[in-house]
Parts: sequence; structure tokens; C-alpha cells
Amino acid sequence: MSTPHAPVHPVGPYPLPPLRFGYGDLAPAIDEASLRHHHLVVHQGYIDGVNAALARRPEFLGKSIEEILRGIRNLPDDIREDVRVQGGGHADHQFFWKILSPPAERRPAGPLAAAIDQTFGSFERFKTLFEEAALAHEGPGWAFLVIKPKSGFKLEILTLDGNDSVLFASEPSPGLIICDLWDHAHGAGRDRRGWLAAYWSLIDWDYIGERFVGVHEGKTHL
Ligand SMILES: [Fe+2]
Repeated sequence: MSTPHAPVHPVGPYPLPPLRFGYGDLAPAIDEASLRHHHLVVHQGYIDGVNAALARRPEFLGKSIEEILRGIRNLPDDIREDVRVQGGGHADHQFFWKILSPPAERRPAGPLAAAIDQTFGSFERFKTLFEEAALAHEGPGWAFLVIKPKSGFKLEILTLDGNDSVLFASEPSPGLIICDLWDHAHGAGRDRRGWLAAYWSLIDWDYIGERFVGVHEGKTHL
């Protein structure tokens, strides 16, 4: 059973955001031990890292991680790289958990489905292109479907290195979906291709549809 999404983004020092599902609820797409480690160890590690960086500049602790990352270029030199890497890891994981839900047969509906069909030809073609981009990405990173409000609400598939965030983009490009391309996300005994095949069953397309409509309505804190 999933719980509603938190409507606001907390300010720092950041807590580990609770999951909307139990550690065993995403199996078999993500086994319980892998999810527990991913949340409690990997994500917590990034939170500890960004909190430690911001403790050196407490004037930034009153902001959400999204607000800080949008202004990454304006951060003081002594914390910018730590916030980029550790804070990016926190924000990417926080977004990743939001779009997941227990495995089910789901697909986009309504205006989001129409936009995917119009942009990519079909949902199946979109999935193929997303997987191709993710498989072509070298090393750890993240794959996204983003929407560009200032470019006619264009949809675009992209991948980013390491823990880079769509929040760094000079043109606002809110993420609609995100996929963790680090080895720790694959799950026991899987490679990236196997993880991608399992990933589709986890996406909460109802929530993605709400994000899509929210961007069209001018919401910036999704
Ligand atoms: Fe991860």
C-alpha cells in the first residue's frame, strides 16, 4: 500500500525521506535486501555528506535541496563540489523513490500518454529509446524523461553522469521519470539491461501524470 507524496520539500539538515512502500514491496523488481541497503546506506550516505557540507555554511540550511541545486553555480567555492556530488545524490534518490510503487501492469494515460505518443511514436517506442540511452551511458549516472516548459513543453530523454541533477540545467527541465544507473541499483545478480527490464513495472504512471499536469500548470516544486 503506497502513501501520498509529501507536498513540501524539507529544509536542511535533511532527513532521510521515508519510502511510500515497505522494503519488501518492490520485489521481485527490487529485492528487499537491495532496497534496504539502497535507502538506508546509499541514500543516507549522500544525506550525511550534503548535511556535513552545509554545516560549514549554515546560511544555506534554510533551503530545500532542490532550491540549493538550482542555484549550484552561486554556491561558495568551499562547498560547491560537495553539494553537487552529495546533494545531487540526495536529490536524485529522493526523486527516484517518489516515482516508484509496487510492481504492476501500468502505462501512461491521459495527456501524458498523448504527449509520449506524439513525441516518440508510441509508449513502446519510448521505452526502447529510454533503454537505449540508459545502456549507452558509460559508468554510473541517471536516466531521465524531462519536460521543457520553455520549449513548448517538449519531452526529452537524457542521461547524466554520476550524481548530476536535472536541477543544474540552465533551462528548467523538470524530471518526469528517473532511473538509477549505478551498479548498486541493479539488484542481486542483474546487469543494467536486466534492471531496466524490471524498472518499468515499478513506475507509478498516475503520479507521473500528475507531475506532467503540474508542470503545465506552472508548478515548480514537484
Ligand atoms: Fe542509487
